[in-house]
Amino acid sequence: MPNQIFDNHGRPINYLRLAVTDRCNLRCFYCMPEEGIKYVDRQELLSYEEMLRMVGLLVDMGIRKLRITGGEPFVRRGMLEFLITLSQIKGLEKINITTNGTLTADLIPELKRIGISSVNLSLDTLDKERFFQITRRDEFDKVMQTLDGLLAHGITTKINAVVMDGKNTGDLIPMVEMTKDLPISVRFIEEMPFNGEGNHYPKLIWNHKKILDHIRAQYPNIEKLPDPPNSTSANYQIPGHRGEVGIIAAYSRTFCGTCDRIRVTPQGMLKTCLYDEGVFNIKNLMRQEATDEQLRTAFLEALGNRAKDGWEAEQNRQFGHPVSESMSTIGG
Ligand code: GTP
Ligand code: 5AD
Ligand code: SF4
Repeated sequence: MPNQIFDNHGRPINYLRLAVTDRCNLRCFYCMPEEGIKYVDRQELLSYEEMLRMVGLLVDMGIRKLRITGGEPFVRRGMLEFLITLSQIKGLEKINITTNGTLTADLIPELKRIGISSVNLSLDTLDKERFFQITRRDEFDKVMQTLDGLLAHGITTKINAVVMDGKNTGDLIPMVEMTKDLPISVRFIEEMPFNGEGNHYPKLIWNHKKILDHIRAQYPNIEKLPDPPNSTSANYQIPGHRGEVGIIAAYSRTFCGTCDRIRVTPQGMLKTCLYDEGVFNIKNLMRQEATDEQLRTAFLEALGNRAKDGWEAEQNRQFGHPVSESMSTIGG
């Protein structure tokens, strides 16, 4: 592949996760404290023009897949127009979105039209009351409407459910049951301490092994599927079910060896690992009138010094150690 960048561990980097806002209209327990977080001033956000310049440069360096995250991407004004412009970038093969689904339903036909290939929907329970307890907002029906719309439009849909001890573990089996008739992937995620507060538990209780054991106790014939390259989830299927089940060891960090991704935060900070504290700020460089060549050099240097895994990245942090920032400021 021409112009493919590699990191210092020989891993090709072809996936950019771009968090377009730190704002969110929900207050999920595992992501933010109830009172919310202090949002970034608007002028501190990367502008759409700055994001387009950056994406263009990174596509020239080998990025092929772009994921738009947040906060909640669709709370940022002008998001759909931005997606339309992104969809015209040559060489960018996939644009995916991670969303909470509360503001998405009406936009689905347009997302389909511009070729959004896959949407990951954050949904931690199928119970309306529990949804309110977890997210502190009454938006369950809108998320379900989005799920229906995505399926009706044939957009590949994955559900992301963070597993929280004492909160939604009773939802695991009903959510696996959804895969019986729906062609979706339901993925259970280990809870990470990116919640603005730090660890919720002295030790992670629901790790990937416990999640799998719990599911297997109900479905002893669950089968392992081959995982796509660079997959965050280990994937399974219950024989006869249309959909799949995934488990993401986000805290145990079992998939770092094939990590193909970088992140840019809403303020323009490049993160070469979810667990690092940021390498350089691309917005500041752009606002100091850096040339494309200077920006390229900054990316190359950052990727030439990448931690080998999330444990090393966390160890190398100088200020916030261990991690505790809100996921909505990072983009997941
Ligand atoms: P696909 O591209 O559909 O495979 O999705 P994804 O898993 O890359 O992205 P998504 O936004 O759906 O994230 C699902 C969960 O995986 C979230 O909790 C993310 O924080 C976590 N996650 C995504 N990428 C990484 C990663 O590189 N490292 C770790 N530790 N967790 C990650
Ligand atoms: N631990 C694990 N996953 C999290 N997400 C947000 N906060 C956390 C956390 N503390 C998930 C969201 C979303 C994805 C981008 O990250 O559910 O689906
Ligand atoms: Fe990549 Fe860091 Fe995530 Fe590991 S923890 S997969 S190195 S981003």
